[in-house]
Amino acid sequence: MRIRLQVFIVLALAGSLLPLHADEKAATKENSRYEMRGDHDPNGIGKFYMGREIAYVMGFAGASWLERSNREEEERITLLIRSLNLKPGQVVADIGAGSGVISFLMAEQVLPDGKVMAVDVQQEMLDRLKKFSETLGVTNVVPVKGTQTSTGLEPGSIDLAIMVDVYHEFEFPYEMMQDISKALKPGGRLVFVEYRKEDPLVPIKEVHKMTQAQVRKEIEQPEFDLHWSETVHLLPRQHVIIFQKGPAGSPLKAVDEPGK
Ligand SMILES: C[S@@+](CC[C@H](N)C(=O)[O-])C[C@H]1O[C@@H](n2cnc3c(N)ncnc32)[C@H](O)[C@@H]1O
Repeated sequence: MRIRLQVFIVLALAGSLLPLHADEKAATKENSRYEMRGDHDPNGIGKFYMGREIAYVMGFAGASWLERSNREEEERITLLIRSLNLKPGQVVADIGAGSGVISFLMAEQVLPDGKVMAVDVQQEMLDRLKKFSETLGVTNVVPVKGTQTSTGLEPGSIDLAIMVDVYHEFEFPYEMMQDISKALKPGGRLVFVEYRKEDPLVPIKEVHKMTQAQVRKEIEQPEFDLHWSETVHLLPRQHVIIFQKGPAGSPLKAVDEPGK
């Protein structure tokens, strides 16, 4: 009995010393990328990525808040979309589209032959968006059901992707960024609209806000091939942080206004 136990211990130790296979290495890396903590914000899921707690996904019950009549005044969404200088014929992605408020604003700008790929993980949101499309007679907004790790967009198919109040909810931000970067065309733009965490007066729950420094830290990891091009200080409560896919030293001028 004692001999059998000794053999078992030797074999177990030998196993733990063997080199890891590629898939085991990937799993270890994935586990170390995220950290679960017991002590956390009640509005967060207790999972941390690069020092930041991930927020709960806003459920379908929040759709009417996205469509609230004073959103224009609070968030200046029409100004936001105009500032993107979208062009007719472009294919743009609204990632985390919700019920489509932002998608419909962009759809007008890319007419006559451009389209908006409206990606969301919640089928109820996409159903509501589809209903609005029918009511409004909009034919160039395409609902796309994504997953927590993938958008479902074709590689190299997108001129501009925007996430309005979404990124901080991604349960797997690293995997989503790999996927979004792949979906962008070379030179394509990626736009983050996030409530400013630097400003304590912005009346939004803490885990639903982000600092510009944190967004840049997470997105400028070299494997994403995304390069910060500018931060536009335009909106009353949110950052508009723009990256470009492709080599650094891109044709876009890098403009920052320190201190904002
Ligand atoms: C706060 S809402 C914003 C909706 C929309 N962008 C707007 O401003 O009207 C966030 C949305 O992101 C979606 N979302 C969260 N994680 C996602 C993921 N991994 N992929 C796609 N959508 C996601 C949620 O289902 C929700 O509809």
